[in-house]
Amino acid sequence: MTDQFLNDLLKKMTTEEKVAQLMQLATPFFKGASNSGEITGPMVNMNITDELVENTGSVLGAWGAAEIKAIQERHLKDNRLGIPLLMMADVIHGYRTIFPVPLAIGSSWDLELAEKSAQIAAKEAAVAGIHVTFAPMVDLVRDPRWGRVMESTGEDPYLNGEFARVQVRGFQGKNLKDDMEALAACVKHFAAYGAAEGGRDYNTVNMSERDLREYYLPAYKAALDAGSEMVMTAFNTVDGIPATGNKKLMRDLLREEWGFDGVLISDWGAVKEMIPHGIAANEKEAAEKAIKAGLDIEMMTTTYASHLKELIEEGKVDGSLLNEAVMRILELKDKLGLFENPYRGADEEREKELLLSEEHRNTAKELAAKSCVLLKNEHVLPLKKEQKVALVGPFAEGKDILGPWSFLGSTDEAITVKAGMEQKLGEKVKVAKGSDIEAGEGTDLEQAINIANEADVIVLALGEASEMSGEAGSRTNIKLPDAQLKLVEEISKLGKPTVAVLFNGRPLDLQGVIDKTDAVLEAWFPGTEGGAAIADLLYGDVNPSGKLTMSFPQNVGQVPVYYNHFNTGRPKGAPDAQIRYVSQYLDSPNSPLFPFGYGLSYTTYAYDQFSLSANTLHAGETLTAQVNVTNTGKVAGDEIVQLYIQDKVGEVVRPLKELKGFEKIHLGPGESKTVEFTITEEQLRYHHADLSLTSDPGEFTVYVGPSSAEVQEQTFELV
Ligand code: GLC
Repeated sequence: MTDQFLNDLLKKMTTEEKVAQLMQLATPFFKGASNSGEITGPMVNMNITDELVENTGSVLGAWGAAEIKAIQERHLKDNRLGIPLLMMADVIHGYRTIFPVPLAIGSSWDLELAEKSAQIAAKEAAVAGIHVTFAPMVDLVRDPRWGRVMESTGEDPYLNGEFARVQVRGFQGKNLKDDMEALAACVKHFAAYGAAEGGRDYNTVNMSERDLREYYLPAYKAALDAGSEMVMTAFNTVDGIPATGNKKLMRDLLREEWGFDGVLISDWGAVKEMIPHGIAANEKEAAEKAIKAGLDIEMMTTTYASHLKELIEEGKVDGSLLNEAVMRILELKDKLGLFENPYRGADEEREKELLLSEEHRNTAKELAAKSCVLLKNEHVLPLKKEQKVALVGPFAEGKDILGPWSFLGSTDEAITVKAGMEQKLGEKVKVAKGSDIEAGEGTDLEQAINIANEADVIVLALGEASEMSGEAGSRTNIKLPDAQLKLVEEISKLGKPTVAVLFNGRPLDLQGVIDKTDAVLEAWFPGTEGGAAIADLLYGDVNPSGKLTMSFPQNVGQVPVYYNHFNTGRPKGAPDAQIRYVSQYLDSPNSPLFPFGYGLSYTTYAYDQFSLSANTLHAGETLTAQVNVTNTGKVAGDEIVQLYIQDKVGEVVRPLKELKGFEKIHLGPGESKTVEFTITEEQLRYHHADLSLTSDPGEFTVYVGPSSAEVQEQTFELV
């Protein structure tokens, strides 16, 4: 529609109607809803009036073409001006066909497939009537105690930015008005939610503005540069002020400095949470802070609905702030074509055709196989079909492999490890649980030992229940539950070749697993096709290629441990280092158990002929780094070649290495390929003490290799 239409519409709206347009309510409040559950928990005392519902701007969590059409149809009858509802939901890693969790997708380093998975998720959700997804979540993570690390693509700003970019592109497609099977994206959680102290969800975030800008903000900016239509604010404080009421973060940085003029939505209840945070004495103050900070939509609390009109009448809030917020929401509805077609892509026939289609499942299986990371393999994998295998553990037949935030995905539709292996072998596999996920007693440990005793090789399928990670899933003990460690211990006593397959949403402390098994395959929460992908990997039909994007600590006492750390003034291992008085632990190495960028294959690769095209770089010019990679093994494989750069001397301390490029290459046995990376002066810029983003002349080291801890180096001078 034209700007004139939108301006005219805004003029017709009463203040009450404008205020209600900023409200987002969950599905149970809507009259047309039938399959959306009850009004429970925090929703019970919200005193939602019919008038507020009839004028609400958007719905949280509706799903299904018929359901969403019914909600919209009833709303259009009740809404005086016929303003359509926006339908928003958490389509994070799939709608019905569930892809691996984002931390797994990150481990694939496969941007193309990540984009395709977002595109498929958008198609399935759009034909089911959804308009906006609360994704991508791009919070940088360094603390595996935090349950939501599963929702991030990891610990590196550059890689997270690359995944943010392609996910937004996958969700939004080229044109939201024309493409009825695309969704508007909503990048979250702005900002730095992943830095919650102690890894405890919703906890305080404390960091310098420089660290915020250098490490935590780049991925949000990448999502916005890719055109993300919305931003969701985080629960946490940023420099002492909750993000949702943080004017410096939202109005000054996001809107003024970055020029974001899209819709800003709070997280669930985050506006009202400014009261327990202690920066608002009551709901009225919370509403005032939020609207002045630039927040448009209040999710699931009613401070705006209860107080905004009064704040404007009292002159405490300028009415223009309300008009701006409403206009941004109307503009988003217009971009989605909702005024012309309020039902947009909702299509029951197309829904039947697309959801869980073979094509979608195949993509999910491909991505799951590429997301798994081979952490250890002492000549046990790949398995041979003629081997007698015993499949043991709570995830042998466990269906809880979709992970948190798997929207409409059904665990009943998940391919288990047992099903995947039996599909491949064409025969029954001997299975025993041996232990529950958390409890040990009353399970068939005896049976597990028996079938293991008769087998040539044992596959242990272990891990976390999905609710042990995800939102509010923080853990101080990041080992596998004791019951499972006991199972591993008992099985290891048999002295047989043993493989552990892990289902988890975070880097784990693997003591008691890595030292008791011969091979470990990290499968994360692999999604609907998980078991099929794992069977392909176990039997070598797919060669593992995934690499970690979040470090695995030796133990939780080492957290946070991440690859792009600083050297400190007393680096352990320096030539002149003392034995004791250096930066170290008395009881643990400094290095993680498995570093960023690490992952094994069934083949081996050699890196040689690493060279730079010059040893000086002038601003405005480029430098090329070349390395030759050879597959020195007997099977084809995909290798993720990584490029890191170190700024040897900065105005502020600089990380020992920073990822600046990567390339995934396919090599047949014996095949070589020369990989080239272009280095520019822009890549060398960092935030100085005065927050200026510039580079410094001086020495830089370039590293290339198969992981952040296995590299060759060359140096150059920026002049
Ligand atoms: C949750 C999450 C957020 C999600 C929202 C709506 O609390 O923090 O990521 O999008 O509520 O479900």
